Amino acid sequence: MRPPAAPGLGPALLPPLLLPLLLPPLLLPPPPAAARRAPRYDPTWRSLDARPLPAWFDRAKFGIFVHWGVFSVPSFGSEWFWWYWQKEKIPTYVQFMKNNYPPNFKYEDFGPLFTAKFFNASHWADIFQASGAKYIVLTSKHHEGFTLWGSKYSWNWNAVDEGPKRDLVKELEVAIRNRTDLRFGLYYSLFEWFHPLFLEDKSRSFQQQQFPVSKMLPELYELVNKYQPEILWSDGDADAPDYYWNSTGFLAWLYNKSPVRDTVVTNDRWGYGTICKHGGYYTCSDRYDPGHLLPHKWENCMTIDKFSWGYRRDAGIDDYLTIKELVKQLVETVSCGGNLLMNIGPTHDGTISVIFEERLRQMGTWLKVNGEAIYETHPWRSQSDDITPNVWYTSKRKQKLVYAIFLEWPTSRSLFLSQPIATLGVTQIKLLGHGQPLNWTSLKPNGLLIQLPHLTFHQMPSKWGWALALTNVI
Ligand SMILES: *[C@@H]1O[C@H](CO)[C@@H](O)[C@H](O)[C@H]1NC(C)=O
Ligand SMILES: *[C@@H]1O[C@H](CO)[C@@H](O)[C@H](O)[C@H]1NC(C)=O
Ligand SMILES: *[C@@H]1O[C@H](CO)[C@@H](O)[C@H](O)[C@H]1NC(C)=O
Ligand SMILES: *[C@@H]1O[C@H](CO)[C@@H](O)[C@H](O)[C@H]1NC(C)=O
Repeated sequence: MRPPAAPGLGPALLPPLLLPLLLPPLLLPPPPAAARRAPRYDPTWRSLDARPLPAWFDRAKFGIFVHWGVFSVPSFGSEWFWWYWQKEKIPTYVQFMKNNYPPNFKYEDFGPLFTAKFFNASHWADIFQASGAKYIVLTSKHHEGFTLWGSKYSWNWNAVDEGPKRDLVKELEVAIRNRTDLRFGLYYSLFEWFHPLFLEDKSRSFQQQQFPVSKMLPELYELVNKYQPEILWSDGDADAPDYYWNSTGFLAWLYNKSPVRDTVVTNDRWGYGTICKHGGYYTCSDRYDPGHLLPHKWENCMTIDKFSWGYRRDAGIDDYLTIKELVKQLVETVSCGGNLLMNIGPTHDGTISVIFEERLRQMGTWLKVNGEAIYETHPWRSQSDDITPNVWYTSKRKQKLVYAIFLEWPTSRSLFLSQPIATLGVTQIKLLGHGQPLNWTSLKPNGLLIQLPHLTFHQMPSKWGWALALTNVI
């Protein structure tokens, strides 16, 4: 995938008077490709942190996280199954194994049972597209170390030699890339719970780099060169410092030389102490939702199942967030300048359970009507209304638009907004998905009272939340 050329000051964009001034330099031979590729990045945080975030990411606002791996086979408790069962020996996990599997069953024996038998990447892509998401992030390798592609460095603990005998990363990449409005991203766990080389390095306080040099770094280069992810979502530093992982060296290559150098976006999980501080956008913590504006681009990664990222057969209906709760998460996050990365966990046989599918499709129907107030917006001067609860603001500066997204429909049909300052005869207010401009009155000293239309249940443009477009307010 080739990124579009950077916009330059071409003669066609300039008024005629300026043309003569520009002509002489244009007659010179173009500089060599390498020289045109400024700026270059050094393997230091100071240099890497100064890289502007590729603009597509902030515009996208909404992505889907997919946690899939061998942990999807037991599909019990959490994607941390192996650790909880064998390292922490948590009784529910130990009992689950005792009750359901033969006595000498090892975690590795789940490998062949990870069949992906019904995995249809094109069908997944249809569902993701219907959700209104603009990017997806797949766990190419979680802490268990099993790679969903045929990594040359994984011995046989990968999806091509074991289980599905298919390159799952490739199949999903092809299907996602076939949708023009979806970008393809990959999650990658730096450490592996039980990898002998990692454990040896750890026992020497990370003063040696056997694991990063022979496994993790070669794998990352392979992953980027083969699948060209536009998000590299790093995780699992295991409290080892970034110089152990050689993170800055790798990122300098990613930004300077890799096939995705112009469009790739990364996060902040690159070694002990880097989170919320270095790298691309900030994730800070799982389910991060600060409720206020941050000076740096950030992402709220959260999951529809409140208790697990991987699929759980033991999940009950109350364990899943409702669509109303999910819409609220999206709106709050975007108002405060974040992106929402909403997680699902597919099953071991490659299906997306109908509850996840329903939530995704519901989000899509909401975004079809209200996406104008989400995609490509900027935070406004206020993030939420300080008088009326559950009202969140976004804006489009160029179009002089402010959006007020309200999550409860007032029974009086009068909505009070304390923040915007409106002008009679100039300000116009519309409910997204509903044609006519609405009546409103200005209140002194500030704020306005908006009359919502009288609509029956079936006339409502959306459920779970509504958006007002306010033109010419300050
Ligand atoms: C895979 O999914 C696509 C899109 O939903 C569908 O058209 C196709 O028939 C499916 N392929 C198989 C083998 O089921
Ligand atoms: C790409 O998408 C088009 C239209 O949706 C479909 O006909 C085609 O089979 C897809 N190709 C692949 C490789 O998925
Ligand atoms: C580590 O980073 C340095 C740059 O700081 C680079 O020259 C070197 O090749 C990297 N090592 C590996 C194994 O990738
Ligand atoms: C707006 O107010 C005018 C005058 O009171 C009224 O005639 C009209 O029906 C109202 N429009 C809406 C959409 O409520």
